[in-house]
Amino acid sequence: HSADAQRTDLMTITRFVLNEQSKHPDSRGDFSILLSHIVLGCKFVCSAVSKAGLAKLIGLAGDTNVQGEEQKKLDVLSNDVFVKALVSSGRTSILVSEEDEQATIVEPSKRGKYCVVFDPLDGSSNIDCGVSIGTIFGIYMLKDEHEPTLQDVLQPGKNMLAAGYCMYGSSCTLVISTGNGVNGFTLDPSLGEFILTHPDIKIPKKGKIYSVNEGNAKNWDAATTKYVEKCKFPKDGSSPKSLRYIGSMVADVHRTLLYGGIFLYPGDKKSPNGKLRVLYEVFPMSFLLEQAGGQAFTGKQRALDLVPNKLHERSPIFLGSFDDVEDIKALYAAQS
Ligand code: AHG
Ligand code: MN
Ligand code: MN
Ligand code: MN
Repeated sequence: HSADAQRTDLMTITRFVLNEQSKHPDSRGDFSILLSHIVLGCKFVCSAVSKAGLAKLIGLAGDTNVQGEEQKKLDVLSNDVFVKALVSSGRTSILVSEEDEQATIVEPSKRGKYCVVFDPLDGSSNIDCGVSIGTIFGIYMLKDEHEPTLQDVLQPGKNMLAAGYCMYGSSCTLVISTGNGVNGFTLDPSLGEFILTHPDIKIPKKGKIYSVNEGNAKNWDAATTKYVEKCKFPKDGSSPKSLRYIGSMVADVHRTLLYGGIFLYPGDKKSPNGKLRVLYEVFPMSFLLEQAGGQAFTGKQRALDLVPNKLHERSPIFLGSFDDVEDIKALYAAQS
């Protein structure tokens, strides 16, 4: 390809997914239509986030969600946008959102074969100070064509067909996997298109960064305490790891994917299951990390093997570079 040809040969996310789809001759374009509606939601939230400060879209909405968190205006707005976009796609039957206590069962005339679990706005605590935030989503196939039930979404993460996130930061970046590796797309606002900028992302086998909220150290268990100690005071004469913690899972995971290292949200004495929610935070990010050659571990098992019993269930999560996660798995094995 000459540079010119490359410049005019725009690989948009729509074209990329259609290429992927051509590998499944039987598919009738439903997934592409679903994805185009998710992309629409991301573009809308990206635009709302970028002018939040100006459009008085920051601050509290005056309500709390099932998590007991005070909802921010952008939490509620993003949730409304994604629910409406997903229902109007006509390709979904059941939706699970962090912001809604109950699952949304789509009205029969608009049902499709997919179930979508999503965190419409991740990192809400960072909205008002302008630090990167994001949207996280995972896609399951309905178990059977009949009446959708919670069993269609209480599936292990390994059953997901696709997962991804959109990060609203210095640029708007959408990272997605449909099970054949991980690809990143950056929104070109002048075109309103997501262009392929990070083809076939692979996480480094080992990293030099650890990412955890050290403010919880008092309550950590022995294995996590030992692991973080090793990061700071390595016994093998290697240099200590750097600590990077943004507090938005999307931003911390995006950096981990690109630079390598490990992201930890452990359980502790106060909250044995940690803080991150299985369906729409732990599973999608674990799916992506495995697809990029990394690992995701709960302290007890491979994260994607977990079978959730409740929509908003939480789990400890250790994810990132393959070798770094191996180290913490060894410490938990020794502790069990
Ligand atoms: P959300 O804003 O969707 O509720 O998620 C916030 C999560 C996640 O983004 C981040 O990794 C974690 O909360 C940070 O928690 P701490 O502030 O306890 O470290
Ligand atoms: Mn929240
Ligand atoms: Mn979140
Ligand atoms: Mn959220």
